[in-house]
Amino acid sequence: MTQQNFKKILKKELLRIDQAGTTKRKETIIEKFVNLKGMAPKAIIKGKKYSIFNSNDYLGLRFHPKVIEAEENAARIFGAGPGAVRFISGTLKVHKDLEQALATFHQREDAIIFSSTFVLNFGVLHALIKGQSRDSLIGSDTLVISDQLNHRSIIDGIRIANLPKKQKIVFKHIDMKDLNEVLEKNKQLFQRAIIVTDGVFSMLGEYQNLAKIKKIVTQNDHHFIEGIITVVDDAHGVAAFGETGRGTEEVCKTKCDLLIGTLGKGFGADGGYIVGEKVYMDYLRESTSTYIYSNPISPGTTGAALQAVKIVDSAEGRSLIKKLQENIDYFKESMKKKNFSFAVNSSHPVQALLIGDTNKTKKLARSLFEKRILVTPLAHPVVEKGKDEIRIQLSALHSKNDIDTFVNTITQI
Ligand SMILES: Cc1ncc(COP(=O)(O)O)c(C=O)c1O
Repeated sequence: MTQQNFKKILKKELLRIDQAGTTKRKETIIEKFVNLKGMAPKAIIKGKKYSIFNSNDYLGLRFHPKVIEAEENAARIFGAGPGAVRFISGTLKVHKDLEQALATFHQREDAIIFSSTFVLNFGVLHALIKGQSRDSLIGSDTLVISDQLNHRSIIDGIRIANLPKKQKIVFKHIDMKDLNEVLEKNKQLFQRAIIVTDGVFSMLGEYQNLAKIKKIVTQNDHHFIEGIITVVDDAHGVAAFGETGRGTEEVCKTKCDLLIGTLGKGFGADGGYIVGEKVYMDYLRESTSTYIYSNPISPGTTGAALQAVKIVDSAEGRSLIKKLQENIDYFKESMKKKNFSFAVNSSHPVQALLIGDTNKTKKLARSLFEKRILVTPLAHPVVEKGKDEIRIQLSALHSKNDIDTFVNTITQI
């Protein structure tokens, strides 16, 4: 009976969340998709057809016939689920083939796949920062330096490593002067430093200048006995950004030490991955709890992702990426002609329309919904007051007509 007291507290908490306007549980249910043949799919919600401008499926691969066929084939050969975790009997040939394909795609020695990138960051950051087993030889004398606007999975990954405050420093968002100062101030104080950052930042579509980070790292590396390790989570960059879809590294013409990506956005499937030198990958396979004690992605999803990687790394993939870039340019031009301004000048499929007023932002998103267009409102308190925005995500499958309809509708509203 005393549990009633806890339930009362839960109800109060739910009310607080609802009143703050940050509720997440009122999810829009998509009943099915239509228009699948090489066109941007439309979502059916309560029997009505909606244009989608808020999906991470930037290249439209989730409905690609070859991706679906590969998913079905892998499920037929290996079953619906992996049957066990990797080190028991859950490592299937299709998993190894995907890891090999990802390592080759990013020109690295090895790759590891995880059930999601969130789960990856949670486990990998912990393992890198101080090892996860009681008898680990990895000391916790680490300085972790993290961009102010990093994704929640990175923040939580650092949090669970439970470092003292002085060992985790947040640098100002994409501010290289600040990053340099953090390294300067902390030189010779720690064994190693780990710089961790998003590649593309998903709220606004801007990216971290990895070439500048590399320069700063080269200048400061000798101040740390075990060096400076760069970890970049480019979930929104891979299969979307750069001429061949290799993400922020390609745009900045440089490489980090450990590159993290997702299979659940541009690649159109599901799951997370990390690529890097073999010694890092071997260590992470031995010590990352979320890899060791959790199932890998299902065989079907793995088969689909493998096919998606093959498509991205082909003439077809490059032409999809070119089409995506043309759509981004066309969209920006059309919106500018109607006097809309963007929060930043992004060349990524994430385009943030600055509204700057919480009520207006929510109202605009509602009106677009009534006109059968899906976008994402990012309003205070999710973002800073005055930075309220409508986030639009473009796809290679959008036609000029889809974009014109969007621009005309939002202009009318
Ligand atoms: C930078 C970053 N990391 C991780 C994730 C989580 O990816 P996944 O859905 O594969 O867990 C996201 C997705 O929003 C992201 O933007």
